[in-house]
Amino acid sequence: MTIAVLPGSFDPVTLGHVDIVTRAAALFETVIIAVAHNSTKQPLLDVATRVRLATEAVAHLPAVTVEATDGLLVEFCRERGATAIVKGLRGGADYDYERPMALMNRSLTGIETVFITGDPALAHVASSLVRDVARHGGDIGPFVPTGVAATVREALA
Ligand code: PNS
Repeated sequence: MTIAVLPGSFDPVTLGHVDIVTRAAALFETVIIAVAHNSTKQPLLDVATRVRLATEAVAHLPAVTVEATDGLLVEFCRERGATAIVKGLRGGADYDYERPMALMNRSLTGIETVFITGDPALAHVASSLVRDVARHGGDIGPFVPTGVAATVREALA
């Protein structure tokens, strides 16, 4: 059984995340989306809401589950028997951001990070931009799964 963990803040989940998890589900028997704590960010949505939205977004993918974790990512991976961490790359800036985390995680327990190149049509889709567009009254519907836009609007109201 090959298990991968796809971690992130998912604040909120976007179509970019769904693209990456769909590709990951074709490579691994089980993919666990880990809604994790990023100590450098103050999330808009609470953890329960982020987990709910991500769960709804991947309901059509039977091999994918969603969980929250607030500890060290590598410990979560060890507890779940995961042999890889999966991350999506939109471009070079993502690689520069992800590389130290991948190296640190491998240093800690030996776990490898597998990078998946996202759909170029979604290269501009990032949770931070989605929140910013919504904050300024723009329509984020084209960038997020069904139901996410309404929840983000409520959180900003
Ligand atoms: O979507 P993000 O915010 O870029 O994801 C970053 C995240 C949540 C995966 C990272 O901050 C993380 O792994 N947090 C869990 C705590 C941890 O293990 N920190 C050390 C990372 S090397």
